[in-house]
Amino acid sequence: MLRCQRLTVNYASATKPALCEIDFEMGPGEVVGILGESGCGKSTLALSILGLLPATARVEGSILFHDQDLLHLSESRLQTIRGAQISLIHQEPGLSLSPVMRVGEQISEVLRAHRPVKRTLREQECKSMLCEVQLGDIDRIYNAYPHQLSGGELHRVAIAQARICRPELVICDEPTSSLDVTIQAEILNLLRELKRKFGMAMIFITHNPALLAGFADRVLVIYEGRIVEEGRVSQVFRRPLHSYTNELLQLVTPEEGRVAFHHEN
Ligand SMILES: Nc1ncnc2c1ncn2[C@@H]1O[C@H](COP(=O)(O)OP(=O)(O)OP(=O)(O)O)[C@@H](O)[C@H]1O
Ligand SMILES: [Mg+2]
Repeated sequence: MLRCQRLTVNYASATKPALCEIDFEMGPGEVVGILGESGCGKSTLALSILGLLPATARVEGSILFHDQDLLHLSESRLQTIRGAQISLIHQEPGLSLSPVMRVGEQISEVLRAHRPVKRTLREQECKSMLCEVQLGDIDRIYNAYPHQLSGGELHRVAIAQARICRPELVICDEPTSSLDVTIQAEILNLLRELKRKFGMAMIFITHNPALLAGFADRVLVIYEGRIVEEGRVSQVFRRPLHSYTNELLQLVTPEEGRVAFHHEN
């Protein structure tokens, strides 16, 4: 489904590449974890796939999505893919949603951009999507402004918005980093459920290995823009080959370890 070949990204102002010769591929329904510390290039990878890098970034290599190279598509063609076939859940859903528009309308807008569906039908679809992400009190949520919702609710809204057109691939960029551990576990459970039920493929970006255990099929460990380790999660976490991976694993708190271990069983 997705094949990234020798992807290299240089930001104009930088002295070294943000990403360097990244190679990986993933199939339908697969969950790939991208693990690495702040600044290693995780979001740059997400933005490259979505064609959202700033104009000042120089990109080399290719990103094949069903055999079309995303790096060579026109902006109008990319717009038909973004949100419909590949979508993004941001680091901070509260910030990516507009504060002055009801969340129901914001989900509905994504649908309208990709499919000519009547307003009432769109509302129905959006509400059933809010159910799908396990929100209760659908009418209240649909009509709420972002500031009227809790952090956990906002995350579910962001997932609903990313899922509304039923994309094959959802990129989650640190989707739970701002939540406390319990809510974080709930959101991960929801994503796991969506993967199981709908075969949703995901690229799950995080700096926290605990979030990938029992969830991602494979992990790519990125350090300073390069993949330094890659493999099945259980294998990489049990026997990390790279000292950097080992260091990341040492940072997992006992509480996170408990949650992660719970899901591995
Ligand atoms: N628009 C930009 N212009 C110039 N440099 C950038 C730009 N965006 C990111 N960078 C640089 O590229 C590198 C990779 O950044 P990126 O945002 O991809 O890291 P990240 O792994 O997502 O970090 P975090 O975990 O903090 O979100 C960093 O050194 C960053 O400063
Ligand atoms: Mg980032």
